[in-house]
Amino acid sequence: ITDREGVVHEVQAPTDMAMNVMELVKAYELAPEGTIGICGGMAMCASCQCYVKSDHTLPEMTPDEDAMLAEAFYVKDNSRLGCQIQLTDDLEGLEIELAPES
Ligand code: FES
Repeated sequence: ITDREGVVHEVQAPTDMAMNVMELVKAYELAPEGTIGICGGMAMCASCQCYVKSDHTLPEMTPDEDAMLAEAFYVKDNSRLGCQIQLTDDLEGLEIELAPES
């Protein structure tokens, strides 16, 4: 995970706890409190936006995620909402970068 300062962190992610990328970032305190996960993972704030840098195949976006990103700032082609990416074994080696705070 590359934080908003550009620092890369290698993290261990549990895949048996129904945890998502946003919760992982919070668990490792890679973004200041109150700047990520503001809506609690409901795809309604985009504070968890991240850029997917590795070529993992992620689940399709839900209409809610797609709609939220359509309104968010700093969106790129590889933007996703971290709260909508569940941690699974398939994502070993996933590389993401946190989008700027908005
Ligand atoms: Fe709000 Fe992900 S935490 S959209």
